[in-house]
Amino acid sequence: MCGIIGCVSDKDCYGALYDGLKRLEYRGYDSAGIAVLGEKLSVFKKKGGVSNLSAFYARGGTGIGHTRWATHGAPSDANAHPHRAGKIALVHNGIVENYAALKAELEGEGERFSSETDSEVIAKLISRAYRKDLLSAVREGLSRAEGAYAVAVVAEDRPGELVAAKNKSPLVAGKGASGLFVCSDIPALAGTADFIARAEDGDFIRIADGRIDFFDKNLNPVCRDFTRPREELRALSVAGGGYFMRAEIGEIPRALEDTLSALKNADFAPCARALRSAERIFAVACGTAFHSALVFADVAEREAGVPVLCCTAGEFRYRPPVIGEGDVLVAVSQSGETADTLEAVRLAKSRGAYVVAVTNIGSSSIESLADFCIVMRAGAEIAVAATKSYNCQLLCLYYLAAQLLFFKRARLPEWFSALDRLPEAAQAAFSCFAEADALADRLKGAGAMYFLGRGTDLCTAKEGALKVKEIARVFAEGYPAGELKHGSLALVGEGFPVACISTCAALLKKSESALAEVKSRGGYCALFSQYPRALAESCADFKCLLPALPEALMPAVAVIPLQYFAYKMCIGRGFDPDKPRNLAKSVTVE
Ligand code: AGP
Repeated sequence: MCGIIGCVSDKDCYGALYDGLKRLEYRGYDSAGIAVLGEKLSVFKKKGGVSNLSAFYARGGTGIGHTRWATHGAPSDANAHPHRAGKIALVHNGIVENYAALKAELEGEGERFSSETDSEVIAKLISRAYRKDLLSAVREGLSRAEGAYAVAVVAEDRPGELVAAKNKSPLVAGKGASGLFVCSDIPALAGTADFIARAEDGDFIRIADGRIDFFDKNLNPVCRDFTRPREELRALSVAGGGYFMRAEIGEIPRALEDTLSALKNADFAPCARALRSAERIFAVACGTAFHSALVFADVAEREAGVPVLCCTAGEFRYRPPVIGEGDVLVAVSQSGETADTLEAVRLAKSRGAYVVAVTNIGSSSIESLADFCIVMRAGAEIAVAATKSYNCQLLCLYYLAAQLLFFKRARLPEWFSALDRLPEAAQAAFSCFAEADALADRLKGAGAMYFLGRGTDLCTAKEGALKVKEIARVFAEGYPAGELKHGSLALVGEGFPVACISTCAALLKKSESALAEVKSRGGYCALFSQYPRALAESCADFKCLLPALPEALMPAVAVIPLQYFAYKMCIGRGFDPDKPRNLAKSVTVE
């Protein structure tokens, strides 16, 4: 969600904060702000993107910055961070769940608030506790806050000092040539920091006297290891300009190649016992990652004969799930920081289940919580809409399903060796772009559309629909092709667009019947399949031939033209694909 950054430098820190916020902007872009501590504490904050801050400059080596994804209070100058209270200024990512009660109490004691945010409440609490010892004041102020937070705080009479703290929201510290930093995540510090260390829940960080110190919840010093950021997280700009989303779609073959070689070198032995004895598997994730979990559930259940219950992480937590010892939870998260997914992992662990995580970010929170973690090698994904990470998640999950079969039945699935061809097939799927382009051009004025599929094609349909909703702002629904006539067909009239993904030979005819139902009501039909005959015999108005792979692996390539289609729809409708309305890349609040 929000991005926070803090810097202590012996040079002016404004530029480092601004650049850091630019790199963090994918976390939220409703409003942004910077506080710089030089001879005095100067705060500048504005509704809108980080570039609005370029109108401001202040000298000083200590500062904090924020890019906001609004939770409490609309995007506005007043609700933007940093929040000032007395001598301190604070930036916050997270949600203070008991803020209303705290605010009422503080108002009762005469405090006046200048924003509607929950964050200003903790700024006030810290300010009231502040007596020259910033670290103790932050601890005392936060001791009353319930919920999730990562904060960075400076005090106007303590230049050269910054204190940060974390509970359930991500926070890393970094050391680089331009200064010492705290920041919401590793990719945003990559290129700036040569060494990074991840804070754990309950940690406090103090930067002062040219060093970074970590403390536990009782302010006892603790050691957190500084390591070099992974090389592939360094490149955070698009060569030659353009959109990250387009560049990231173009990187899919390379990302799959890198992920494949990482998987080949990975040692799955540590999770052998848990997989071998698992009688039930649960798969949880959110959004795009959930769609990859759905594919996993289908493939793993089919191959290994183990029931796999797949559930969005937010629902899983509140069911409550019948999970316990002997069960395996597979949690998928590109960022490794999604609050709902992390809570599902914590819940599963507290019940004694074994947790396997799939993530793109090594040393993310999910990696530290999981018993076994598969780190894909998609490289930094900046566009809010997930693309290459989805393809790589699928690859990791295919691999995991294969290991499951191997540990249970001492054999690998028939399609296993075809995983080597996935990068090449992804490259071949780029030849569908001209058609996807034409389809986007035709449908860019549509008010709604369906994506139909059956089996794993339904997962692809859901992902295609999510992309269209997310960036092109067109209502879209991924729907089981067989369910259409049970209600949803009522929306289909003259020209209503329906895209059907049909990659399973046994279901081709069934999908075609669904298209025929649409066609006979005047709908506009698009069909995506790797079977030339199915295309030739279809009534569809638009036909796209996908590269062929074993059917189980088709979701990893069939989605590529849909990702591109959504991107082109978005451009055609005049939106920014990298910054979709109301969204943020990393959803670190519930
Ligand atoms: C997809 O395009 C999204 N922006 C979103 O659905 C995302 O996949 C979801 O929030 C989960 O994120 P994660 O993979 O980082 O956990």
